[in-house]
Amino acid sequence: MLILVLKFTIMNYNPINFSEKFNQFSDYWKPKVISEINNYQFKIAKIKGEFIWHTHPETDEAFIVLNGEIKIEFRDGIVKIKQGEMFVVPAGVEHKPSSENESQIMLIEPRGVVNTGENKSSNFTYENDVWI
Ligand code: NI
Repeated sequence: MLILVLKFTIMNYNPINFSEKFNQFSDYWKPKVISEINNYQFKIAKIKGEFIWHTHPETDEAFIVLNGEIKIEFRDGIVKIKQGEMFVVPAGVEHKPSSENESQIMLIEPRGVVNTGENKSSNFTYENDVWI
């Protein structure tokens, strides 16, 4: 018996607009999913103040600054990333993001990554797969 599996893609011809997405929430440090590519997610977040030290042993994590300027501290250094710049934190490297004033960022990482890494019960831990 021959079974044919056909995949129909329902197209949405609207672009994803960052400003429109950022206007839908005001909470800090709570990444929202806006799109996916294969098993990776594009997440956006507003951040302000200091996050906690954490690591993602299983994956790299890309930070893209869309508005503002952020800092990521490492145990042996620090990087400042401003609007129009990006930085990739390698898997397993402990890091602590912060932003003096409100910044708007995009994260690119695989589905299922916990924002607080190995610390899954921090006050900052946020649920996954919150789409806007
Ligand atoms: Ni992280």
